[in-house]
Amino acid sequence: MRIDVVSIFPEYLAPLKLSLLGRAQEDGLLQLDVHDLRDFAFDRHRTVDDTPYGGGAGMVMKPEPWGLALEAVLASLEAAERRPTLIVPSPAGEVFTQALAYELAEEPTLTFACGRYEGIDERVLEWAGERFRVRPVSLGDYVLNGGEVAVMAMVEAIGRLLPGVVGNPESLVEESHSDGLLEYPVYTKPSSWRGHDVPEVLLSGNHGLIARWRREQQLRRTAGRRPELLVGADASGFGREERAVLAELGYDVVDGRLERH
Ligand code: ADE
Repeated sequence: MRIDVVSIFPEYLAPLKLSLLGRAQEDGLLQLDVHDLRDFAFDRHRTVDDTPYGGGAGMVMKPEPWGLALEAVLASLEAAERRPTLIVPSPAGEVFTQALAYELAEEPTLTFACGRYEGIDERVLEWAGERFRVRPVSLGDYVLNGGEVAVMAMVEAIGRLLPGVVGNPESLVEESHSDGLLEYPVYTKPSSWRGHDVPEVLLSGNHGLIARWRREQQLRRTAGRRPELLVGADASGFGREERAVLAELGYDVVDGRLERH
């Protein structure tokens, strides 16, 4: 996969060269190019922002540098059959989820446009919409100083799903959100630590029992920490035992979906 990021703080993205994603780049599984928006601003101060029309606090990112920067990215992408995807991190976007990470991991290229200040002049998104598939995406319901941290999170979540990036692909199967539930708790040696013991069942060697216990823990943890993930969830994947645990936790299956009783 090829990823282009446009930002006024390219150094912000430096950690993406480390660890698993750094290795993925060395191995040619991921090509990550970070572009400095100021390289596309040509006045003496390389200005990228200006005051908002209509008044109000803060500054708005000027359209001209963005137009040139995105044109340069487009020109460097190989002739794609479809319009490439442009992700615009914004607290006003759709929320980034594991499902969206899986969807975006299928794309041959992704471009990220990091806004700062009060945001990017809206006409950039209109113009870009004729060339890219534009998706404003939010990390969650809170406000960051700019898109860079959100891009780091998204690129890491997407990059680790690319084939070959995570050494053991099985570890992607049983992690939180991979099946709409939170992950079960994990333990390692020693079996007893400061008076806290590893649950007996995990020492039993009985793989069937262990799998059942883990599934139950997933349901209990999700109901306790993130009940909204269960309400309305498709229940067709839940068997008799899971439904019994869910009933104990206060969830019934109504018309194939989970409801709280
Ligand atoms: N930029 C500022 N806040 C953001 C958020 N919550 N998600 C994505 N980008 C942002």
